[in-house]
Amino acid sequence: MMISKGKHLGALLILPAIMLGCEQQHRLSLKQLDSIQLDKSQLKVEVLTSGMEVPWDLEVDDMGFLWVAEQKGKVSRVNPETGAQQSLLQLQDVWQERTSGLLGMAVHKDFKKFPYVYLNYTARKDSGIVSRLVRYTYENDSLVKPFLLLEIEGGTSHNGSRLAFGPDEKLYWATGDVHDYSYAQNVQMLNGKILRMNEDGSIPEDNPDPESYVWALGFRNMQGLAFSSRGILYTSEHGDAIEDEVNLIQKGGNYGWPHIEGKHDLEQELNFAGRNNTLEPLRSWTPVIAPSGITYYGSPAIPEWSNSLLLTTLKGKSLRILFLNETGDEITGEEILFENHYGRLRDIVPGPHGEIYLSTSNLDWNPQPGFPLDGDDKILKISPAEEVSSTPLIPIKAQQALVAQSGKELYLSYCASCHKEDGAGVRDVFPSLKASGLINGDPAKLIDVVLKGSGESENSQQMPSFAFLTDSEVAEILNYIRSEWASGPTSISPDLIKQSR
Ligand code: HEC
Repeated sequence: MMISKGKHLGALLILPAIMLGCEQQHRLSLKQLDSIQLDKSQLKVEVLTSGMEVPWDLEVDDMGFLWVAEQKGKVSRVNPETGAQQSLLQLQDVWQERTSGLLGMAVHKDFKKFPYVYLNYTARKDSGIVSRLVRYTYENDSLVKPFLLLEIEGGTSHNGSRLAFGPDEKLYWATGDVHDYSYAQNVQMLNGKILRMNEDGSIPEDNPDPESYVWALGFRNMQGLAFSSRGILYTSEHGDAIEDEVNLIQKGGNYGWPHIEGKHDLEQELNFAGRNNTLEPLRSWTPVIAPSGITYYGSPAIPEWSNSLLLTTLKGKSLRILFLNETGDEITGEEILFENHYGRLRDIVPGPHGEIYLSTSNLDWNPQPGFPLDGDDKILKISPAEEVSSTPLIPIKAQQALVAQSGKELYLSYCASCHKEDGAGVRDVFPSLKASGLINGDPAKLIDVVLKGSGESENSQQMPSFAFLTDSEVAEILNYIRSEWASGPTSISPDLIKQSR
């Protein structure tokens, strides 16, 4: 993709001098961070842009430009060769707190002819929160003519969302359940669904119900949505305390939330599945990894990854390569790259030459120890290289089964995503365990909270139930907490947990 072509030459000429300065500087070369060694291919990781703030969604248009939506409402277009960045829009009506804000973007597939950019973001309306889907038109280096396609209920959390165009030229929108357990299974509500619409926002006649946007239902909080080159639609989704998922989406499919989490493996799940004909995920993860952006990789440029799903993770702070079978309906293997290396990874998209762009999310509401790094947030570019450094990164095979773990490891797997590694929690969101009166003395109440979970806190956050852990796992975790943050209380036995169930 060259910027010096056709009408974009004009666009470049009217850039302010300061941006041209930037452009020249970038053009020298991108800064290389690392090399990657695959079976045969050698890759490099470079910094395409830095100094961004939570680049939540990345898209590539049919001219090869990279579009970036930042959570606070900024949209820009980046030259994928030079990293030169052009700001196009700052939303004025976006409402951004923790996980809300500008969360979804799609560019029209035939962008030359239909220069439309679709944005989904949360906004305040009267005393409530809404989630807006708005189409903008790209004109004279700016995004103009906002046109509201659809507005649904928004929430303080679980707003999804992702947007994607299908090969059928319809727009798909993955919405969140806004933390209301009654929504995902209610077809009258547009939350906790995949919605399908025409590019002008009208309902397609061939939807399961021609009067409804609903294409598939039973979702909690999807963070990734992508079509493969065969036209298969995949999603990634956050589970509650367990069972993050990747799903293959079928027309009219019911994916079970909140009655089913992950695979259909509990008796009550099998009952619900039998009555409602629900579909199982292709893959689920417990402990959770907080999957985020997902994309299909079909290019021969990196042959080892061809026909895979690339998934970025937040909690897992990694890139997952999910290898697909030929028909795309099975995940046959999983590899992990970059674990803890660049921090939280938010979105990923392949470019026109098989190169890959991914964004960090180290300035978001949930910063991790050791991050942000210099220049965060960044967009990184992965592409084939002639040679690798002496210490290249190498993907590792994911462990499928969990082996017995210590109390500390179990705590880090199941509890630290909310209460944090040091037990201090997140102010006003997740309570500090260190400062909790519950962890001292008589353990009855403490055991109860962990087994049963606890109602909503002010920020509509819940303590999930951990009844699925074994007696000894719960005992291990509680003994770890009490030995770390309480003043020497007696130890809790697996038997005591058993009696409390
Ligand atoms: C998804 C986030 C999340 C996870 C994961 C989580 N918690 Fe919690 N936890 C909460 C929230 C939110 C509350 C407050 C609930 C309320 O106010 O009713 C809470 C409350 C608690 C409390 C009560 C604190 C007090 O003083 O009232 C304890 C103890 C606790 N959690 C322990 C754990 C343990 C042990 C684990 C891991 C097995 C864990 N939590 C995992 C979100 C979480």
